[in-house]
Amino acid sequence: MTDLSGKHIVLGLSGGIACYKAADFCRALIKAGATVQVVMTEAAGQFITPVTMQALSNRPVFTSQWDARDAAGVANSMAHINLTREADAIVIAPCSADFIAKLAHGAADDLLSLMCLARPLGTVPLLLAPAMNREMWAHPATQRNLAQVQADGATVFGVGKGFQACGETGDGRMLEPQELLEDLVAFFQPKLLAGHHVLVTAGPTYEAIDPVRGITNLSSGKMGFAIARAAHEAGAQVTLVAGPVSLPTPRGVTRLDVKSAQNMLAALAEPAQAATVFIACAAVADWRPTHAADQKIKKDGSGQTPQLQFTENPDILATVAQSPRAKSGALYCVGFAAESQDLLANAQAKRLRKGVPLLVGNIGPATFGQDDNALLLVDANGATELARAPKLVLARLLIAAVAERMRARA
Ligand code: C5P
Repeated sequence: MTDLSGKHIVLGLSGGIACYKAADFCRALIKAGATVQVVMTEAAGQFITPVTMQALSNRPVFTSQWDARDAAGVANSMAHINLTREADAIVIAPCSADFIAKLAHGAADDLLSLMCLARPLGTVPLLLAPAMNREMWAHPATQRNLAQVQADGATVFGVGKGFQACGETGDGRMLEPQELLEDLVAFFQPKLLAGHHVLVTAGPTYEAIDPVRGITNLSSGKMGFAIARAAHEAGAQVTLVAGPVSLPTPRGVTRLDVKSAQNMLAALAEPAQAATVFIACAAVADWRPTHAADQKIKKDGSGQTPQLQFTENPDILATVAQSPRAKSGALYCVGFAAESQDLLANAQAKRLRKGVPLLVGNIGPATFGQDDNALLLVDANGATELARAPKLVLARLLIAAVAERMRARA
């Protein structure tokens, strides 16, 4: 994944034990395609050496406003100005309580704070990954300073909860490098669905036969999870109703785990009252055993097989698409069709049958479990192909297509 290709990040380290995570974060940024210029405070240098950060970023590290080099090693006394002029963002990770206090007051007595104050406010965003002891985090002074730096335009990433290096447990840990990366990638995505609430279903459903067996399918949930992530990146509030899959929840997404189609329909009832977009990506089982046995069905040696009876499951998408909010246009519904052939004809027919404005076709065997996919978007105006690509890339394109169609309707 090269989500940050072409981006130049100035990575600032202030003093804190979380500096050990900054090394990994620097690598993650580079792997994601960014170029990274590291700037460290003197205190950060007590926790991790500039040599380590230089080796990982492949650039000289800057630590002092009196350093007379520039990034190419040429004499230059304007590091605090020049280092940010090509930057797409400054990320301070870890950002100590002391550094937040300095930012809040516009202090500028070392290279990193000087550079933050001297950055072009309109073009170089400042993102902070706080890291501190839980008491320092909860202190009114820290919370006041955080509110002030946000009012001044900085973006503050969340903090983790848990066991802290000081031995105490609580809020204030720096986010893990992969979490920071996901938040930074999201920061750069256009906020096409700001103010919207997107409801997504994903994965298979599981219809019990008895306490240990059931009917399910090969849906991995990857496409639906990618859509939930892309919707969050686009600035929406996101609720993801997931069948049984073991995928990690995308950052910032509210997840409700369900098993059966009936569970899924019930879980949707409340969020569907507030959602503005519903994307039904789940591969819902069409039928369920009419009676799930209370005890495991045993073979009795007679050679007789159990006689299962099936009942049709509710069509979740069609049900939601018929709700008053969907019919009034307040809830924009998108369906998926996993087909094995005749994608266009099947998708067009399914769009009309389900009563949704947009239906997304894909070839089932070519998507289940895969990391990439190809989509066919079918609406009243025709069909648009999205060529084979990683599911997250397709999910972002789908979210853009949904946002565009909603704008056109408004
Ligand atoms: O009818 P079919 O299962 O092919 O339709 C697929 C679309 O309908 C998907 O969007 C799927 O999530 C949704 N669906 C549903 N409830 C069902 C069956 C399918 O919401 N019982």
